[in-house]
Amino acid sequence: MVQQTTLDMTVRAELMAERIAARAAQPDLREMVLNVWSLIKRDCHVEQVMDEVKATLTRGEPYWDICCVLAAYAELCRPDRYLEIGVRQGRSAAVVAAIHPEVELFLFDMWYPDYAGVPNPGPNFVREQLQAVGHCGQVHFVTGRSQETVPAFFAAESQSRQMQLITVDGDHRDEGAMRDLQNVADHLAPGGMLVFDDITHPKYPTLHQTWKTFLAAHSNWSIRENVRDGTGTAIAIKPG
Ligand SMILES: C[S@@+](CC[C@H](N)C(=O)[O-])C[C@H]1O[C@@H](n2cnc3c(N)ncnc32)[C@H](O)[C@@H]1O
Repeated sequence: MVQQTTLDMTVRAELMAERIAARAAQPDLREMVLNVWSLIKRDCHVEQVMDEVKATLTRGEPYWDICCVLAAYAELCRPDRYLEIGVRQGRSAAVVAAIHPEVELFLFDMWYPDYAGVPNPGPNFVREQLQAVGHCGQVHFVTGRSQETVPAFFAAESQSRQMQLITVDGDHRDEGAMRDLQNVADHLAPGGMLVFDDITHPKYPTLHQTWKTFLAAHSNWSIRENVRDGTGTAIAIKPG
């Protein structure tokens, strides 16, 4: 009986991972993401990704990235709470907020000045981005180094405040990324989705191995990875 339940949970997680990856790749979902980005202030990086995404639609090519999987999960699962490590100008958080406006957001960033060569203005700017896409849920900003702020946040919270959706897209150094992944893993709700970005980013050639090492301790989670598009994105669904 116990074995059967475990099997059921694993099968459900596998089905969910398949459903999210399939939905993330659909052209109309990409159109939805582009529509969200058309509502926010965009730096040169977002403009460049928009051009790339539009080109995949014109050429009829498959494509999915961090924002596509976030959009798919927000649409299909309507999470109560979303935690994001690495917010920058709010591009990815805005996608979740636009598709599920009531979602409660927990946004962690140290607002590294001029991250990737463009301004990284911080919470007030991101708040405006979220308002621009119609977010009406609560939003909590936690400023500081995530390897310290995330454990402190959860130490101060009750166990019941698990997150259905979590993105780790902050510190891209192996040690920092691993600590972020480990610090959120227990706080992902059963059936929830963890998103890890940039697994094929040429600037971070060992990040994919960091993700694989993390997964070795979570071998029953259902994984999908896209190493074909953009800078590579991975998702993991926790059984439940
Ligand atoms: C790649 S950007 C996030 C992009 C965003 N998720 C998106 O898709 O548009 C990374 C962000 O992580 C932040 N960051 C980097 N290292 C960090 C750390 N150790 N703690 C907290 N934030 C960090 C940077 O300030 C930057 O805003």
